[in-house]
Amino acid sequence: MSDPTRQPAGTYWGPDFAALEQLDPEVARGLLTELDRQRSKLQLIASENFASPAVLAAQGSVLTNKYAEGYPGKRYYGGCEEAVDPLEQLAIDRAKQLFGADHANVQPHSGASANIAAYFATVAPGDKVLAMSLPHGGHLTHGMKLNFSGRWFDVASYGVRQDTEVIDMDEVRDLAVEHRPKLIIAGWSAYPRQLDFEAFRSIADEVGATLMCDAAHFIGLVAGGVHPSPVPWCDIVTFTTHKTLRGPRGAIILAKEHLAKAIDKAVFPGTQGGPLEHVIAAKAVALKEAMDPSFKEYSQRILDDARALAGGLAERGYRVTSGGTDTHLFLADVTGKGLTGAEAEARADAAGIVLNKNAIPFDQNPPAIASGIRAGTATVATQGMGPGELAAVAGLIDRAFTGSDDDRAAVRGEIGDLVARFPVYPEPDA
Ligand SMILES: Cc1ncc(COP(=O)(O)O)c(C=O)c1O
Repeated sequence: MSDPTRQPAGTYWGPDFAALEQLDPEVARGLLTELDRQRSKLQLIASENFASPAVLAAQGSVLTNKYAEGYPGKRYYGGCEEAVDPLEQLAIDRAKQLFGADHANVQPHSGASANIAAYFATVAPGDKVLAMSLPHGGHLTHGMKLNFSGRWFDVASYGVRQDTEVIDMDEVRDLAVEHRPKLIIAGWSAYPRQLDFEAFRSIADEVGATLMCDAAHFIGLVAGGVHPSPVPWCDIVTFTTHKTLRGPRGAIILAKEHLAKAIDKAVFPGTQGGPLEHVIAAKAVALKEAMDPSFKEYSQRILDDARALAGGLAERGYRVTSGGTDTHLFLADVTGKGLTGAEAEARADAAGIVLNKNAIPFDQNPPAIASGIRAGTATVATQGMGPGELAAVAGLIDRAFTGSDDDRAAVRGEIGDLVARFPVYPEPDA
């Protein structure tokens, strides 16, 4: 193993892959296999992205060694003043600045953890909550019966209209008036349209509910200025940092001033222990990247790419739910081609295209089979692919879905050529 005493003075002590290979070749091989998979296939999972080398460096740092329960200036451990406090404060300040928020808590370990804390701060077990139903695009933490949210809270669900596949704000209002929820959640995991935050606000005000937005998926588009911000309208905004925002795995909670203390207490000591300061440093890096003008171009490219891909599939006879997208993702019904979502996902993977099966609204198939696929374009936009490439990808996906094994092998080759033109994590000499 490498010897820390041999590190030249002033050299940064970061991840040492040679040491890992020497100590634990099995794990090293696994990392290389995953790197190769990310590089060599076309990644269209809507919740994924490629974190930058700077984000990876911060995350793979000696900050992982530090305990720091509490908050900057108010810790339960010594040794936080020199580095950890200023770095966490930097992440907080950047989050507040980027999104124009009163308050930011950068400690949640994941999107689910952020949502647990948001519930903890605003409702008690048994209280009424109104959120989007899972089969219509909501998240597990929005009241799914096996999740803590469905087990501990009395959750009423809104969905999309069958004819338009778009959220019906009249239905949301009727449900809110009927159930009088203490908490209303706007937000989704699989819904291609923008939300009407102003309408959610007026409904929450009418029934006296706290309004929370789970912006996990689209927050990067907000940062890039190509999607309306929920921040002015919502009491709480939770989001993951690893999807369109392109940071490390984790989450952030933004809150209006009147909930700032409650949110901080709900994260620690309410629902988490020591913060992951290495991840928080990486969140700070991602927030800085999101402030750069290039992030706006990236965000616009995400939208252009999603429209080109969804449009290309629609031209080839796939029904794109709600007729299109104004975010980074869309859902396409594959049953018209005689396929289930599970079959489509497997065929795409065989052709080097990674996407996921997904329930479509009013799906007749169980979730493990599903009638649709979900695809997103944050990854390919990070690689620099534009709408021209994505229009061509629609043809490749169609061939993968409907062609023979030989067709899929041919598509695999074309995908290899495409990703070679837009390399992710290129070899140093490439
Ligand atoms: C809307 C929404 N909220 C929360 C989460 C949970 O995030 P995590 O997987 O980091 O717990 C997700 C993840 O996909 C999500 O889509």
